[in-house]
Amino acid sequence: NSRRLADYRKPGFLIPQIELTFELAADATRVTALMQVKRQQPTVPLVLDGQQLELQYIAINNIELRADQYQLTSEQLIISDAPAEFSLQITTTINPAANTALEGLYLADNVFCTQCEAEGFRRIMFFPDRPDILSVYTTHIIADQQQYPYLLANGNNISTEKLANGKSRVSWHDPFAKPCYLFALVAGNFDCLSDSFTTASGRKVSLQLFVEPGQQSKGQFAIAALKRAMRWDESRYNLEYDLDVYMVVAVDFFNMGAMENKGLNVFNSKYVLADDSIATDKDYFNIESIIGHEYFHNWTGNRVTCRDWFQLSLKEGLTVFRDQEFSADMGSATLNRIDAVKLIRTAQFAEDSGPMAHPIRPEQVLEMNNFYTVTVYDKGAEVIRMLQTILGQSGFNRGLACYLQRHDGQAVTCDDFISAMEDANEVNLQQFRLWYSQAGTPTVAIHQRYDSDNATLHLSISQRHTATVGQPDKQALLIPLQVQLLSSDRKVNQQHLIMLSQLTEQFTFADIASEPVVVWENFSAPVKLQQDYKLPQLLLIAKHASNGFARWDAMQVFWSDLIRQKAEQPTLSLTLPDDLIKLMRQWLQQPLSDKALTAELLSLPDFDTLAEQYQHIPVEAILCGLQSIKQQLADVLAAEWQQCYQATTSGPYHYNENEVGARALRNRCLNYLALVPQGSQLVQQHYSDSDNMTDTLAALTSAQQAKLASFGELATDFSHKWQNNVQVTDKYFSLMACDPTDEVFTHLTALSQHSLFSWKNPNRVRALFGAFSMRNPQQFHRADGKGYSCLAQVVARMDPINPQVAARLITPLLAWQRFNDQRRDHMLAELKQLAATSNLSNDLYEKISKSLP
Ligand code: ARG
Ligand code: ZN
Repeated sequence: NSRRLADYRKPGFLIPQIELTFELAADATRVTALMQVKRQQPTVPLVLDGQQLELQYIAINNIELRADQYQLTSEQLIISDAPAEFSLQITTTINPAANTALEGLYLADNVFCTQCEAEGFRRIMFFPDRPDILSVYTTHIIADQQQYPYLLANGNNISTEKLANGKSRVSWHDPFAKPCYLFALVAGNFDCLSDSFTTASGRKVSLQLFVEPGQQSKGQFAIAALKRAMRWDESRYNLEYDLDVYMVVAVDFFNMGAMENKGLNVFNSKYVLADDSIATDKDYFNIESIIGHEYFHNWTGNRVTCRDWFQLSLKEGLTVFRDQEFSADMGSATLNRIDAVKLIRTAQFAEDSGPMAHPIRPEQVLEMNNFYTVTVYDKGAEVIRMLQTILGQSGFNRGLACYLQRHDGQAVTCDDFISAMEDANEVNLQQFRLWYSQAGTPTVAIHQRYDSDNATLHLSISQRHTATVGQPDKQALLIPLQVQLLSSDRKVNQQHLIMLSQLTEQFTFADIASEPVVVWENFSAPVKLQQDYKLPQLLLIAKHASNGFARWDAMQVFWSDLIRQKAEQPTLSLTLPDDLIKLMRQWLQQPLSDKALTAELLSLPDFDTLAEQYQHIPVEAILCGLQSIKQQLADVLAAEWQQCYQATTSGPYHYNENEVGARALRNRCLNYLALVPQGSQLVQQHYSDSDNMTDTLAALTSAQQAKLASFGELATDFSHKWQNNVQVTDKYFSLMACDPTDEVFTHLTALSQHSLFSWKNPNRVRALFGAFSMRNPQQFHRADGKGYSCLAQVVARMDPINPQVAARLITPLLAWQRFNDQRRDHMLAELKQLAATSNLSNDLYEKISKSLP
């Protein structure tokens, strides 16, 4: 019973207004809804979604319905002959305490909390649970005042009353019509951080951040980040906040990063709580970016929302693009680009080449939660970025303004978005629209011929598309290629935007004085690029390209080619060219002003990036190749790593661009130094000198990867020091799950019995088993299949508790086709066994059934 984009029908009824009353109780919360309903289509029945609800009462215009006047199934309530305009009252009871799926209304850690996107509202009450039904909500919450001092819902607070029996009743009104997936309710005991923000037009907005009691000081960074995001959206896009209050609640039990509920964001505490002793540079980065992301949704998602869930990228691709631009402005734009590209080249390319491949606008869905993917989000953001590249920043901004103005208060489609871009810029984007419907990663090949007699450069550029599930034939896409032409004598140095629109196309550049390299800048399209450059060209780019991303990319290409040699000829011993060592030595002796970029230039590609370059993943060749190269680099440049380590000092911890870069470079040096004899001492020193989590974890990780004898002791010290801190315990879990030795299985078993571990808490499960399956290729991809069976057992255990988490964890097993016989057989056996489990969730069923032959 999956749904298709092509089957979209306009809603039969609208519900312009709804008034909700929640009487909160752990295992029997009563929800009363009073809805104003209006018929839109003649004759159709009124169909309400509802799951795991107990119907108590139903009335139309105050007259209770008889049982024969409606039909009730396990998923729907249907009223066949509803009038044209009426009020509908429904009372249901639900059990938040038993809700371990964390979808709908759940009670965990003594906090009542909702998550409605995508289709969780139907677990709260009977309602047409689809994003094109927009309603104005009034919400009343009744609960015990002592236990739940804060009762929060969307919009503005309109009244607070003390009732008899120790209860209170708080009412909220949200004047903006919204889809039910943006509804939120939170009740609990919190510390509240208050601040305020005055918008560009002078409206004062009250900001409130709710955290677990005692954690107040860990919310300061998030609230400062929120103010930066609000200011940024005003200055970049002229977009202001629209309610009197903006609330953010941090909870420990949450399936994803955060949720943009109107005026009441709910956040995974991992992306809120931070201070200099527990947060890494990466944590601070993530907090700022996710705070930005949810805030930016207020316009791109909330004021203008999606017509149906196939349009998810309309809000997510666009909002990820917006948060990336925000982060780029707050820190190193180059590093941001590099990190975004790493994600596309690992997880997104993997998704494109596996059984779950889908276009950024999927066409068929069984479980919507399975489509909150790197394709919809991050490839979606790349598609938006291409629009900005094609139209220019001001053209893009004009298009966005047109889109928001034209569709304010509506639920619309990706096509509407492109039309606004077209109209605001008077261009035709018909071919560009294919990016929304075509799945898979295109390969673009550039062949160059330089005609020195005529000083002309000829480029022959082609795009190739491979079939993906359900899409055997593909058409040529419009692909913007942003390039620099650069010659070794530097006489040629020019920038061009090449628009590739055919399968094969010729481009000619006149007055090119000497033969240049074609440098691909900024990953201007989500494609695999093939150019057959050898070492001299790659070194030229790595040294002299204007674009930092391109310099890094040249190094990545070099390492990838080297590993490929090893994969093709496993007995080969890899040797490093002198010119390359010379260049790396230079960077170490004189780091660029962007130290974070320097650190990246000195880093090897990771296992996942390399794996995506092969149809069949040569696990051993990649792992051995990486290890041997790393050891050689450590040995050959030992003196320089040491010198750069010492020269790159950092004072007391501060989170800012310069110091983040310095730490990255210094820790990169440390990571190599751990592999040489004098390094062991240094790693211990680094650990004990550290005043921050970034350096502490760098020491631990370096010791672990180099298999230093001291690792055990350091790790034990670390766990004792932080045993009462949940955030750091998650880091400890992940660290131990990355143990490259056989010992890892002992750790996994022991830590799943740790006093802070709980199968019901997604953060704990992901910290331990997500890290194992996604960041420990050596043990996860063991040839004997032990890694796979470990993950499969975890998935089987999680599915009845929390299907969304189970379905995310299973991802690496779906890729069985990409491995050799032995690994493939082990993976398949695990998948088949899971498939045979009774009561498999829709989430798992959809993924497993798609991946089995
Ligand atoms: N809209 C949220 C965000 O991007 C994420 C919701 C994820 N929902 C889900 N069912 N996985 O910020
Ligand atoms: Zn989002």
